[in-house]
Order: sequence, then C-alpha cells, then structure tokens
Amino acid sequence: MGRLGLEGLRVLVTASTRGLGRGIAEVLLSEGCIVTINGSSKTSVERSVGHLKEKGVVYGVAADLRDLDQVVSLVDKSAKLMGGLDALVYVPPPPPPGAFSELRKEEWDIWSRALVLSPVWAVRVALRHIRPRRDFAGGIVFVTSIAVKEPIPDTVLSNVLRLSIHGLVKSLARELGPRGIRVNAVMPGYFMTDRLRALVKRWSGEIGKSEEEVLVSIIQNVPLKRVGDPQELGWVVAFLLSPLASYVNGASIPVDGGRLVSIF
Ligand SMILES: NC(=O)c1ccc[n+]([C@@H]2O[C@H](COP(=O)([O-])OP(=O)(O)OC[C@H]3O[C@@H](n4cnc5c(N)ncnc54)[C@H](OP(=O)(O)O)[C@@H]3O)[C@@H](O)[C@H]2O)c1
Repeated sequence: MGRLGLEGLRVLVTASTRGLGRGIAEVLLSEGCIVTINGSSKTSVERSVGHLKEKGVVYGVAADLRDLDQVVSLVDKSAKLMGGLDALVYVPPPPPPGAFSELRKEEWDIWSRALVLSPVWAVRVALRHIRPRRDFAGGIVFVTSIAVKEPIPDTVLSNVLRLSIHGLVKSLARELGPRGIRVNAVMPGYFMTDRLRALVKRWSGEIGKSEEEVLVSIIQNVPLKRVGDPQELGWVVAFLLSPLASYVNGASIPVDGGRLVSIF
C-alpha cells in the first residue's frame, strides 16, 4: 500500500532501464503507479521490464531520445499502453563527457537535441494526454544536475545545455499552473550509476589517481560522506508527483547530500 497517494497514477519515465531513471521507476512502482520505462535498446527495455514486473504494472518502449520523431512516438505509445498519461518524468540520456576544446559540432547538435529539444517535444506531446487532477497529483518533473549551479569540469555539454531546462520549468509552471498542472525539476548530485562509474574512470586516467581515490575525493566534498542511491532521488520525484506536493510548482530541488555549497 503506497504512502504518497500515487496509486494508479500513469507515469512515463524516460531513460529508465538503468541508473537514476530505473531508481525513480522502482519507487513509483512501489507506490502503486503504473509506469512506462524507456531506453534506447529494445533488448535492455525488455530485460528491465522483466525485472520490474514483480514490483507492479510496468510497460516498456524503446526509443532514442536524441531523435525527435522517436520522442513523439514514445510519449504517444506510452499513453496508449497505460490507457492515458498523468505524468512525465524526463530523465535525459547521459551526454558524453568532454572539455570545450574536445567537443565537435556534431556532438553539440546531437546533445542540444537530447538535452533541450527532446524534453520540449516530450512535453508538447504529453500535454495532449495529461488531464489536470483535482488533487494536483501528476504533472511534469525534469531531471537535470547540480552542474547547472556549479559547472563540473570536463562535462561541458551538461554544464551548458541543462540550464535551459530550468528556464523551461519556470515558463511551464506559469503557463500550466492555471490549468492545475505542476512542473518541477530535481538536480541530482553524485549517484552510483554507470554514468558516474564512467566519469570516475575517465577522471582517474586524466589525473593519474586510482578510481577508488577519485571516488573518495568526490565523497569528501559531500557533507553526508557518500554518493546517493538512485532510489533516494526516486523518493523526491515521487513526492513531487504526489498530492502531498500540491503547492510545489516551478521548483528546482537539489538532491545531493548537501554537495552544493551556494545558498541559492
Ligand atoms: N549519476 C549521477 O550521479 C548523475 C548526476 C547528475 C546528473 N546525471 C544525469 O542523469 C541522467 C541519467 O544518468 P544515469 O546516471 O542514470 O545514467 P546511466 O546509469 O548510464 O543510465 C542511462 C540510461 O539512459 C538510457 N539511455 C542512454 N542513451 C539513451 C538514448 N539515446 N535514448 C534513450 N535512452 C537512453 C539507458 O538505457 P539504454 O542503455 O537502454 O539505452 C539507461 O537507462 C544523465 O543525463 C546523467 O548525465 C547523473
């Protein structure tokens, strides 16, 4: 029995076969949501649906979030599979790391699409399906990164492109609020996923320290002295989609163990 009042809420979580999206999907299923997960490969989507099935009602749709046509059909298919859509959780695929001087035009093109245009398109299509609820549950949650407040060295695509999402959150919160649809964002710090493992490996090679040493230096700067578990992000997203968050709109919430040091 869920604690947050989310039973039966129909939610699409993008990029969710592994990592943060998967953690979010697991929590939503545990709270009684109906969930559609997504990844770029059919095999990984089928495998993840197989694992998640025991937790609740889950569907899977393979779609490459770097392709706007696939984003449109992902949202429409998800709404069809779930018999409607109450919420969209847009987790972006991880952009490749790199310093400004390393990045090619092609990468800027692809990742401007995946991190900016795809979420915009996903919302446009989702709004054809989402009906405001009297309890203010559901709506839209974007996952970005603490890099929007403190840019992280070597992840320039992320540092630059994710900022737009916070402009989108504020714009949509104003425009959709009067219709009773809430829009918020979460900014994860460091969570133990394949993405973080890949970054740690790269930084380890660059600075000549072991991967363990790199991880220790990351953790040293987190007041809670550990990285997060994806489900810890999932609980914040679940709260934001729940009727308990009925007056939270246009917010961008860090979930980072206290890693961000600035006040605003
Ligand atoms: N982990 C962290 O500490 C952290 C912190 C801040 C922000 N972030 C950001 O949060 C997002 C999720 O990161 P993560 O840590 O969960 O990464 P992850 O563990 O590497 O998982 C990535 C997920 O994205 C899916 N994916 C990859 N490319 C895709 C594409 N082109 N189209 C659709 N799905 C795709 C993967 O599924 P398939 O393999 O099936 O394609 C997988 O489910 C990324 O944007 C990442 O940069 C992560």
